[in-house]
Amino acid sequence: MKIYITPNYDVMSKAAARIIADLVNNKANAVLGLATGGTPIGTYQELIRMHEQENLDFSQIVTFNLDEYLGIGLEPEKNYHQDQSYGRFMYEELFKHINISPEKCHIPDGKTENPEKHCLEYEGSIKKAGGIDLQLLGIGGDGHLAFNEPGSSLYSRTRIVDLHARTIEDNWHSFFKNSGFVKTDMPRQALTMGVGTILESRHAVMLASGKQKAEIIARALEGPVTSQVTATALQLHPGKVTVILDKEAASELVNRQICYEIDDIDS
Ligand code: PGA
Repeated sequence: MKIYITPNYDVMSKAAARIIADLVNNKANAVLGLATGGTPIGTYQELIRMHEQENLDFSQIVTFNLDEYLGIGLEPEKNYHQDQSYGRFMYEELFKHINISPEKCHIPDGKTENPEKHCLEYEGSIKKAGGIDLQLLGIGGDGHLAFNEPGSSLYSRTRIVDLHARTIEDNWHSFFKNSGFVKTDMPRQALTMGVGTILESRHAVMLASGKQKAEIIARALEGPVTSQVTATALQLHPGKVTVILDKEAASELVNRQICYEIDDIDS
């Protein structure tokens, strides 16, 4: 695992985008695992800039998103991902701005009639695509990776999960509150890639920024591996793991001599 400490969100985002862009430039049909949430937005903005100004080409790229709320998603008759769905998030924050093929973008279908079957098929599609070359990750306030809440098996696969109260509260404040959504209608379940699925990615890139992530980052990177903090599973990742933090998120790490400090993205 390599841990990079950057001065701020902007440099963190550019560093992550650089890693993704290097892969896209070297492997035109790379398989990217993508994440939603506030954390990756800056990375997506930098990828959009690279597409517009440096011709970064996504035409053959395949993507798999980590998760989706159960009950909201694509309305096929309108060909519209509902507001607040992660499908809508990805379209607005990335896909509509770059030359990616919609049929190559995979997001768990929150409106599926048969979630168990859909989850199995999602796993099958990842395998059929050759596995995930690079999985982008955030970390939840409770240490979750994707929607693998505390207590999720570190061997878990794509499945239906119950969201914990803290996650529902975090999501309410970040994405639902100002959109006319009624709090009692918040999704309480989701479809998520499992921890085991994530650990099969060839390169996992986890980002975190802000003081509010400092304690959980220290537990995830330096604490004992436990299903109570599913991000600790990255310590078991058999491939490559890159963690990019801003200095606030890194502020409670103790073993700093193993971290790489970067001042800006060209250094
Ligand atoms: P955030 O969410 O990027 O909005 O902090 C991360 C997560 O819950 O995985």
